[in-house]
Amino acid sequence: MPRIFSGIQPSGELHIGNWLGAVQNWVRLQHTYDCLICVVDQHAITGKYEAGSLSRRTWEMAVGLLAAGIDPERATLFVQSHVPEHVELMWLFNTVTPIGELERMTQFKDKSSRYESVPAGLLNYPVLMAADILLYRADLVPVGEDQVQHLELTREICRKWNQEFAGGAQFFPEPQPLLSEAKRIIGLDGQAKMSKSLGNTIGLLDSPEEIWNKLRPAKTDPARLRRQDPGNPDVCNIYSLHKYFSPPETVTLVADNCRSAGWGCIDCKKVLAENVTAALAPIRERAAELTAHPDRVVELLGAGAEKARRLAGETMREVRDRMGFLPRRDT
Ligand code: TYM
Repeated sequence: MPRIFSGIQPSGELHIGNWLGAVQNWVRLQHTYDCLICVVDQHAITGKYEAGSLSRRTWEMAVGLLAAGIDPERATLFVQSHVPEHVELMWLFNTVTPIGELERMTQFKDKSSRYESVPAGLLNYPVLMAADILLYRADLVPVGEDQVQHLELTREICRKWNQEFAGGAQFFPEPQPLLSEAKRIIGLDGQAKMSKSLGNTIGLLDSPEEIWNKLRPAKTDPARLRRQDPGNPDVCNIYSLHKYFSPPETVTLVADNCRSAGWGCIDCKKVLAENVTAALAPIRERAAELTAHPDRVVELLGAGAEKARRLAGETMREVRDRMGFLPRRDT
């Protein structure tokens, strides 16, 4: 069975951008692939973060993923820091990664511009990502569009390492990205990518009231200033979201009523709020149930980490050997 690896940072709430762009794909693919899904807590400390809430956010992310349909019977769900081999392999990959390539990454350029003194962890972030993926010799990586450049770098690290330490053989297979149809969901500001750090999200576990309070002021067609002005659905992010949450006949109705000014933006948002609420209701229910049984989640994450460590251990034994380290007594 081909193998899939993907990860998500516990740097904030799980939102509908993550869900549509990546998590729904994971849930679907777990039936036909050997899937490893990782809550990447070590990536989440590369920016400014609160140590006091990291474990809670990691926990909530795991609960959110289980509630969204990650089935521990089918997929291996675990926390990155519970498998220390990720960091070990990252260190080894650092020795074949050109700094110039790291500096070229769009996300690095964007995030580093917010710092006076840029932490090295921010620069090395994609090396840890390469280690995550290659540690399990994954074939496919289902992600949103924003991660594609990091995956290109993973493939380059993979080729370099294979060249240097496997005589050009495919010890590590070159992983391919797998994009969903919703590869870039725009946030409620109608401009930037929906993102935990921008506060333009709808959370997967938001209550109906929270969903409505966020949708009500959300940006629509900027040229539609008054209720009687006809709108252009093609430039409206609320219309884009309808395409993911509303049935086709509603999507057509929305477009028609927008163009004819039959509905105001608020009417259109009310329908979207209802459909988003309905789509997320079963996820909220499952999350509440899991939260009421924390032991089950602890158990699942423990079993996931155990399986991941077994796989990681096998890869690392060979990697250490090929890179020339003195064998340990325990391996
Ligand atoms: P993260 O935590 O930012 O996001 C998790 C997944 O959600 C996708 N995503 C989106 N897709 C569509 N529209 C959006 N607005 C949107 N926002 C987020 C992301 O593309 C991602 O697939 N670096 C990664 C985590 C990571 C990883 C890995 C991923 C660490 N190691 C190894 C794959 C393989 C990240 O920050 O994702």
